[in-house]
Amino acid sequence: MKALQIHGPKDVRVDTVDDPKIEDARDAIIRVTSTAICGSDLHIYNGSLPQPRPMVLGHEFMGIVEEVGPGVGGKLAVGDRVVVPFPVACGHCLFCTHDLPGHCENSNPEHYGPEGGVATEKGGALFGYTDLYGGYNGGQAEYVRVPYADYGPRKVPENLTDEQVLFLTDIFPTGYSGIDWAEVKGGEFIAIFGAGPVGIMAAKSAWLRGAARVVIVDTQQYRLDKAKQTANCETILWDDNKQVVEAIRAMTNGYGADVCVEAVGFEPDRDLIDRAKAVINFEKGSPKVLEACMSAVKRGGYVTVLGVYATPYDNFPISQFFDKGIILRGGQAPAHKHIDKLMGYVAEGKVKLDDIITHRLPLSKAAHGYDIFRNKKDNCVKVVLTP
Ligand SMILES: NC(=O)c1ccc[n+]([C@@H]2O[C@H](COP(=O)([O-])OP(=O)(O)OC[C@H]3O[C@@H](n4cnc5c(N)ncnc54)[C@H](O)[C@@H]3O)[C@@H](O)[C@H]2O)c1
Ligand SMILES: [Zn+2]
Ligand SMILES: [Zn+2]
Repeated sequence: MKALQIHGPKDVRVDTVDDPKIEDARDAIIRVTSTAICGSDLHIYNGSLPQPRPMVLGHEFMGIVEEVGPGVGGKLAVGDRVVVPFPVACGHCLFCTHDLPGHCENSNPEHYGPEGGVATEKGGALFGYTDLYGGYNGGQAEYVRVPYADYGPRKVPENLTDEQVLFLTDIFPTGYSGIDWAEVKGGEFIAIFGAGPVGIMAAKSAWLRGAARVVIVDTQQYRLDKAKQTANCETILWDDNKQVVEAIRAMTNGYGADVCVEAVGFEPDRDLIDRAKAVINFEKGSPKVLEACMSAVKRGGYVTVLGVYATPYDNFPISQFFDKGIILRGGQAPAHKHIDKLMGYVAEGKVKLDDIITHRLPLSKAAHGYDIFRNKKDNCVKVVLTP
């Protein structure tokens, strides 16, 4: 089959690889009909999350069930059309049974552990997301093996198109988690940092939960324009931490936002000083957006972290966390926890997800898709690939 593989930093290619096979009784093979490129894929593409051998990328995919193992039971049948949540999760362990599928203790046996360190002891596996995260091939491919197929995949109502539901695999439940972790009840001022696909989904989720005002921050004007158009946000163009924090305080009588959602991660746009600091401190990227969230949030408010952070950072503002009494939450989003409710919102027409798609490409053009998404060419916000 054809599949997009990572070969090294900035080197992704559509190769011919072996077709996936049923390896465990609970596996299914899915014929992929739509798949997307995620900001998380860019951390691998950039070389910041290294992958030593070629691997099929992609954790946002959906398709038709082609084959099921004997242990899947009646949950899934050949011909079913499904979306698949991005964490590979068993459904039975301590964490899966507590709505923490990203921490599944069975899916990533080689690298699982309580430490959560840089190079060892990660959480549960993710599709197509390096050996450290389980080594499973992903869904930017014609076919994909889905373990624990009686737990993850969700059947899709026939009247909904692929594009209407594809983002239930990751970015919609992820954006929603940023709002849910902040226990949003209605009436809040919510500041979202990053107007990429995840930030825009967080903004859509903020309205679903009754936010009073939603402000989104980005370094790219075209992404702010997209956020305004698709999620009706107020916008702030990022110049530096101080200017953004001051702007948010000015909008909130000096208090700061009730909730700051970090949807950028450890690879924000950086200048030479940021880069030099990272080298001196043996750090990867920069925590500057998280620091801006800590400053821009109101005393006693919530900072939720959706953007990926891959190393420790010295000078983390722990004193500010303590003095302001900030509630800090984050991590891999529990996609399984929210997907059914969110699918309902899509089916009822309460929310529209496909309006963020800017590029539709055949899988054969996936390398071009990575380039335009990574380098913000051609006003790219979200790329959907069809095998
Ligand atoms: N927690 C999870 O489960 C989960 C799931 C999906 C994605 N993610 C992570 O969420 C993050 C965002 O993903 P995405 O798909 O939207 O990616 P993306 O790269 O398209 O979005 C990041 C956005 O941040 C903007 N940005 C860069 N520097 C900035 C700054 N200083 N201030 C404000 N904005 C800045 C970029 O212009 C871009 O629009 C990534 O780190 C990704 O890995 C996490
Ligand atoms: Zn993703
Ligand atoms: Zn589990």
